[in-house]
Amino acid sequence: MSITKDKILESLKKVLYFPKANNVVDLNMVDSIEIQGNKISLNLIYPEANDKNAHIVKDAALRTLKADLGQELEIEIQTLSEQQAGRGPLGKVKNIIAVASGKGGVGKSTVATNLALALAQTGAKVGLLDADIYGPSMPVMMGLKGVRPGAVEEGGKTKIVPIEKYGIKMLSIGFFIDEGKALMWRGSMASNALQQLFNDAVWGELDYMVLDLPPGTGDIHLTLVQSVPVTGSVIVTTPQNVALADVRKAANMFENDAIKVPILGVVENMSWFTPAELPNNKYYIFGKGGGQVVANELNVELLGQLPIVESIAEGSDNGNPIVLDYQHPVSKAFAEIAKKLIEKVKIRNVQLAPTPIVQINPNASCATD
Ligand SMILES: Nc1ncnc2c1ncn2[C@@H]1O[C@H](COP(=O)(O)OP(=O)(O)O)[C@@H](O)[C@H]1O
Ligand SMILES: [Mg+2]
Repeated sequence: MSITKDKILESLKKVLYFPKANNVVDLNMVDSIEIQGNKISLNLIYPEANDKNAHIVKDAALRTLKADLGQELEIEIQTLSEQQAGRGPLGKVKNIIAVASGKGGVGKSTVATNLALALAQTGAKVGLLDADIYGPSMPVMMGLKGVRPGAVEEGGKTKIVPIEKYGIKMLSIGFFIDEGKALMWRGSMASNALQQLFNDAVWGELDYMVLDLPPGTGDIHLTLVQSVPVTGSVIVTTPQNVALADVRKAANMFENDAIKVPILGVVENMSWFTPAELPNNKYYIFGKGGGQVVANELNVELLGQLPIVESIAEGSDNGNPIVLDYQHPVSKAFAEIAKKLIEKVKIRNVQLAPTPIVQINPNASCATD
């Protein structure tokens, strides 16, 4: 019997994906069918990575295809999440990096912004999303105060168009709300607004999307990291006697079983003070070594240390992030952090790469028709 794509689909219509009480064909979960002699390969696409039903459904698909089309078939089924398969609103966003901290004021937004720009300077396509609903600072940091993003019609829906500046695409909750008002939002309102920035915006193809999360840990964080496929997180801290308990809380939020977002590294900000007139001097005014302590505690690498320099704060206030000044030593530090982060993401993606499961037919000699 000659095997066709239609016959495969007809057979797979008998395979149910029970969480949605429908078959895998009608749910549009079957993709990339290829036939070569008695070899078939195809992808099964699940809403999320680590779908608990994945192997059961895959086994059912293998059995059904063989029963219908011949036991001698060699069938290869690859399991992918919608994100891995390039589907969905963030389908073309390869990596999402969440920048987080145990507490506010440690320079999380400064690091997120400059890191996004440093990643873009490596030639990557980068997006920056200011998810700090209670203290959005990107409009000021990127020199976009008072700017309102535009909208386009796409597939019958109105979509937000991220603003492009300094070579990156960006959106901030600050573009949509009056200063101070967000503080009155209930958690669910904040979460919904954030979802829109992800799902109702035309982000297009991105190598990295950097997320500036609100400080601390709360419902908003949980909803966010559960609903968006975050690749990994970066924890920003200062060298002070850090409250390790706060950092642990942030780490637990990412690493708990339901979420499983790995921590890719720690960035220590405000590591020392270097006066402009004494560029070789370092004054450890906030203590020393806190970033390394945090990195050790979390069992990850300290990706870099950033000094306190006036031009960082000035750049943020004037909408000229420091890394735009290529010559500045801090730009070099950010370039180094970006490089290390890219490496960590690569390692992470190798760990996550879908493994094809090849079913070798033990009865290869007994062919049907
Ligand atoms: N390394 C640094 N040197 C000088 N000023 C800094 C540095 N990092 C952050 N700042 C300033 O500290 C303040 C808080 O930083 P911000 O990035 O807004 O922190 P967070 O997002 O964690 O609340 C800002 O005014 C910022 O310009
Ligand atoms: Mg901030």
